Amino acid sequence: MTDKNIYAVYFSPTGGTKKYVLAAAAMLGEKYKQIDLTDFDKRRKTYTFCENDLVIIGTPVYFGRVAQIENGIFDRLKGMGTKAILFSVYGNRDYDDALLELKQITSENGFKTIGAAALIAPHSFCEKAGFGRPNGKDLSALADFMGKIKLKLTDEQALDKEVFIKGHYPFKPYGKIPFYPTADGKCDKCRICFQICPANAINAANPRNTDPDKCISCMACVKACPQKARGFHSVKAKIIFKMFERKLLKTNKEAEFFL
Ligand SMILES: Cc1cc2nc3c(=O)[nH]c(=O)nc-3n(C[C@H](O)[C@H](O)[C@H](O)COP(=O)(O)O)c2cc1C
Ligand code: SF4
Ligand code: SF4
Repeated sequence: MTDKNIYAVYFSPTGGTKKYVLAAAAMLGEKYKQIDLTDFDKRRKTYTFCENDLVIIGTPVYFGRVAQIENGIFDRLKGMGTKAILFSVYGNRDYDDALLELKQITSENGFKTIGAAALIAPHSFCEKAGFGRPNGKDLSALADFMGKIKLKLTDEQALDKEVFIKGHYPFKPYGKIPFYPTADGKCDKCRICFQICPANAINAANPRNTDPDKCISCMACVKACPQKARGFHSVKAKIIFKMFERKLLKTNKEAEFFL
């Protein structure tokens, strides 16, 4: 491969997107660098890539769109016609317009999409949906796709072609759920949640509370809490998520690839 550097770039509060991006980067068979934009401070830096770089960019799907957070996720990635492989990772409902939106955001920032994929991981709100994914079948489909990417990288004509991606523009409106995780009496103030919250929505002095204006309901804090103290503690939230889970478990979505 003639590319200068390979980068694995992701926003991944509960780790599903990260798994796919790192697996794909490893499948290229060369050294790569990671940029974890889940981290609040890392998202505030600017990253500039050159024409010969190859960047794998992954983000979860929130409300059928690219996940949104104050100050944006990818706004500080600057490409110069840099080749990009885009991943939208979703929780077995649908990815709707998210992958098309990711292509638009990254194109505006100087990246050229050479391939893209919609992939399935456990749903942030109900892990039974998408449980165990990526599984063997997902990884073998990803390996096949990355094999095709490697071939494409040697074919200038193929690289010049526009990659068609499913989705609609104008994009569907971004949603909001009125629930934000808080901690109950099991909290021992270890502050792990404060350290990992991508939105800076947890107060260091009082980590049981959550700032609803900042929280994106990503569930990173719930997954990371060693005391299992964090979660949605209202009865209403529990009923809604149970019903949602039943709906999600009716189908098993499969990965889709675009070249
Ligand atoms: C606020 C929010 C909205 C979500 N919206 C969708 C959705 O529209 N479709 C879907 O299938 N999954 C949806 N999910 C699930 C995530 O896309 C899925 O769990 C993804 O794997 C999370 O990525 P991560 O593990 O890298 O954080 C949503 C999750 C959150 C937190
Ligand atoms: S991770 Fe859990 S136990 Fe630790 S401060 Fe946060 S809520 Fe409390
Ligand atoms: S407080 Fe909100 S934004 Fe922060 S980790 Fe928890 S769910 Fe995510």
